[in-house]
Amino acid sequence: MTDRLGSRPLDRWRARLGLFRADINRHFVRDQQRRASQGAGPIERAYYDYSGPLIHKWNHYLPLYDRYFAPYRRRGTPVRMLEIGVSQGGSLQLWRGYFGETATIFGIDINPDCARFDGFNGNSVRIGSQADPNFLRKVVEEMGGLDIVLDDGSHFASHMKASFDTLFPLLSDGGLYAAEDLHTSYWRNFEGRYGSRRSFLGVCKSLIDDMHHWYHPMGQRHEVVRNDLAAIHIHDSIVFLEKSRVTAPVHSVKGSVEA
Ligand SMILES: C[S@@+](CC[C@H](N)C(=O)[O-])C[C@H]1O[C@@H](n2cnc3c(N)ncnc32)[C@H](O)[C@@H]1O
Repeated sequence: MTDRLGSRPLDRWRARLGLFRADINRHFVRDQQRRASQGAGPIERAYYDYSGPLIHKWNHYLPLYDRYFAPYRRRGTPVRMLEIGVSQGGSLQLWRGYFGETATIFGIDINPDCARFDGFNGNSVRIGSQADPNFLRKVVEEMGGLDIVLDDGSHFASHMKASFDTLFPLLSDGGLYAAEDLHTSYWRNFEGRYGSRRSFLGVCKSLIDDMHHWYHPMGQRHEVVRNDLAAIHIHDSIVFLEKSRVTAPVHSVKGSVEA
């Protein structure tokens, strides 16, 4: 009885995953058509026109990068971006094309083979773990500061949290912390599970509570964030956290009550 009931959601989930895999090519073509017909942003266009070293991205992230990274491209000073997870070096190329030659673009990876991408197209690659705060601090020091972090590394909950705890305080005021592939928050082999408070999605949920600490007695659970988290944008499997100083909210009344 328990088995039969217990297996149902899992079976449905497996079936969905199968369909989903079979659909990948169809979606790729559909997204390419959308790009052509609806005027995609520069990152999305660059991705579909790209033919260099391998990049692996979910298609629906592309317009989101365009949306959240655009202010850093437009501003006067060159951006300093750190991507966690270099793999075949392709995404660093994408960011270089987007932010231009004056940008400081660093990638880190635990795999020593990735060192071969260091210096390629002006990008820097350092080898170490995203779970090692000392390593991360050294990299940021070398970068001369940090405006954008994109975590596309191991996707292990504890690693993501360690990176966030170290790097969020090092972000400049007005900086952006992005983490992707958050569907792994539901998967046990990435230290996740449905409803987990320790997964990165779980952390984001409690950051929402922290952001509203003015209105409840529980205080802030994430010391590193304090009053520096201005917005949390959660999309399917990807989150963008905006850093900037937040002051206590005030409200006011204007006008007069009609008699
Ligand atoms: C999904 S791939 C990165 C893909 C790349 N960003 C792209 O868009 O093409 C993940 C990478 O994270 C690296 N990685 C795994 N564990 C890590 C850790 N603890 N610290 C840093 N990088 C790690 C892997 O070696 C792998 O190259």
